[in-house]
Amino acid sequence: MIMAHTMDAGREGAASSGADGSRDWNAGGMAPSGHSAGAGGGQTKGDLKAGAGGGPAEEEQAGAARQTGPGGGRPEGEQAEAARMAGAQDAPPALEVNSVSKAFFHRRRETRVLDHVSIRVEPQEFVSIIGPSGCGKSTLFHIIGGLEQPDAGTVSMNGKPVTGQRGEISYMPQQPALFPWRTIEDNVLLAGELKGEPRAEARAAARHWLDKVGLGGFERAYPHMLSGGMQQRAAFLRALLAPQELMLLDEPFSALDALTRSEMQRWLLELWEENRRSVLFITHNIEEALLLSSRIYVFSGRPGSILHTIDVPFPRPRREEIMESPDFLQLKRQLSQWMREEQAKAVK
Ligand SMILES: Nc1ncnc2c1ncn2[C@@H]1O[C@H](COP(=O)(O)OP(=O)(O)OP(=O)(O)O)[C@@H](O)[C@H]1O
Ligand SMILES: [Mg+2]
Repeated sequence: MIMAHTMDAGREGAASSGADGSRDWNAGGMAPSGHSAGAGGGQTKGDLKAGAGGGPAEEEQAGAARQTGPGGGRPEGEQAEAARMAGAQDAPPALEVNSVSKAFFHRRRETRVLDHVSIRVEPQEFVSIIGPSGCGKSTLFHIIGGLEQPDAGTVSMNGKPVTGQRGEISYMPQQPALFPWRTIEDNVLLAGELKGEPRAEARAAARHWLDKVGLGGFERAYPHMLSGGMQQRAAFLRALLAPQELMLLDEPFSALDALTRSEMQRWLLELWEENRRSVLFITHNIEEALLLSSRIYVFSGRPGSILHTIDVPFPRPRREEIMESPDFLQLKRQLSQWMREEQAKAVK
């Protein structure tokens, strides 16, 4: 039922599989906050408007489970998954991080942050990273986004080497980093502008999504007029509407209260299942990782290396009810234990 690959710390073969073919959900184009982005990227481009209303997306999108979790996989979902897997075998990974290491130097003191980290995200796959605070997760995102250079190792996207290059990903940084001189709507519209999307169309889409994440009425407000959680939702929307096919989300819901967080998770889950996109997601929340992901990489404490890789077995479409299933609870316990062990080592 439950698959966990335990890696000897360091080199990790990046369990692959799980690629699913189907469509994307983005609409506008927008660059993530001053970081990375750029209008480059030109990958798939979908229609947000369709996704917005709960686009039909091929019904079976269900995607899913390489294995049957509680409740069993629906036959049509399994067929669709098999078709996706077959198609995906030809496609290069959306993201391949190969044996990346990184250290920082401050006043001649070296801090080793990442140690031979290898990660793979197949096209239209949702992959999460969990690990103790300070183990290098955000640094890894900076390396993938070209904001930092690795000391060793490489990054490729869709089979193309992109180590150190910017503009290839849609990125939501850990700090929302909205532009203070732009209104919320104009922040959200930024990538659309860079992409040269017709303004009226992009604005209509932005309004629709702002409403959907509970920011209706704040279109003309400036970031400082919003709470931390509201800014986080705006930054999330900006990443979501960016044109790049690969989306990196660094703890996108950490500033939200439990109820809003759970609403956003449900919403992201539905959206992703309808219009697949490749996602790499950092979270400290184990339940969130299990609910959303097809695969979870568990990082060690600093220097971060991959300790375990979990293939999450629950069929799609997933609903929150799976969180009460025995398999879910078992995985949650296992992950919590690993996290506790790593935290304990860090404190020693
Ligand atoms: N630009 C930098 N210069 C020097 N040290 C840095 C730099 N960026 C990150 N670090 C150090 O690298 C380590 C990892 O930081 P990082 O932000 O990647 O951790 P994280 O896993 O994202 O943690 P958290 O879960 O708390 O967000 C920390 O010790 C941090 O101080
Ligand atoms: Mg971080």
